[in-house]
Amino acid sequence: MITPPPGDTLPNLRADLLSAPDLTRLEPATRVSHPPRILLLYGSLRARSFSRLLTEEADRLLRAMGAETVIFDPRDLPMAHSVPDDHPKVQELRRLSLWSEGQVWCSPEVHGAITGVFKNQIDWLPLQTGSLRPTQGRTLAVMEVSGGSQSFNAVNTLRLLGRWMRMVTIPNQSSVPRAYEQFDEAGRMLPSSTYDRVVDVMEELLRFTWLLRDRADYLVERYSERKASFELPEAL
Ligand SMILES: Cc1cc2nc3c(=O)[nH]c(=O)nc-3n(C[C@H](O)[C@H](O)[C@H](O)COP(=O)(O)O)c2cc1C
Repeated sequence: MITPPPGDTLPNLRADLLSAPDLTRLEPATRVSHPPRILLLYGSLRARSFSRLLTEEADRLLRAMGAETVIFDPRDLPMAHSVPDDHPKVQELRRLSLWSEGQVWCSPEVHGAITGVFKNQIDWLPLQTGSLRPTQGRTLAVMEVSGGSQSFNAVNTLRLLGRWMRMVTIPNQSSVPRAYEQFDEAGRMLPSSTYDRVVDVMEELLRFTWLLRDRADYLVERYSERKASFELPEAL
């Protein structure tokens, strides 16, 4: 509980529901030691999709850096809410999101925005189901591919979505322009400063994930939600 400074009245504040900074939760006594769990999402169903190829490149880098990774295949995921939640692809996506400690989101830029394929995946993720929070408190790295010169419309939109999903989006990001020039026939990303940037982003994602994963629950706790749950019985 926080005590307001003497003489300073905060009549609208439920001070009894406001917890003082808890350093034991900020610096957890034990840290988990398993490899960081990273879920990667991409946003295209094209046979030679550069957002998928970029995601696969990020996946290789993360595994080389010691992460455990899963790439979700968006094919066969129905349109959001067109089928019941127990659809196997929906359950798979939600289970992976819950399992993850960090995520990578990679969308093509299409008409200056993200694709429907990408957004559809996010639209299937509930912010909270009971005590389960499939995205909240996870770290997030955003990437985009585009056909034109370098652009940031898709990564900006992904950042916005990350905020809505209450994720901790890392500062660095990757935008791959003229994506059709960046990959060889085998689908591997060619060496370039753009490739080095992808390495930077994955390295930063893992550092933020190591830093935050033991305290994610504490970081997403909100005064307004504690207050709402406390007041609920009275409101009923
Ligand atoms: C309908 C359509 C709209 C597009 N709009 C943009 C755009 O606004 N800006 C851009 O740089 N590239 C644009 N592109 C190019 C795509 O970003 C590029 O082809 C990208 O590689 C597609 O992703 P994918 O390879 O993962 O399918 C567009 C492509 C299509 C088919």
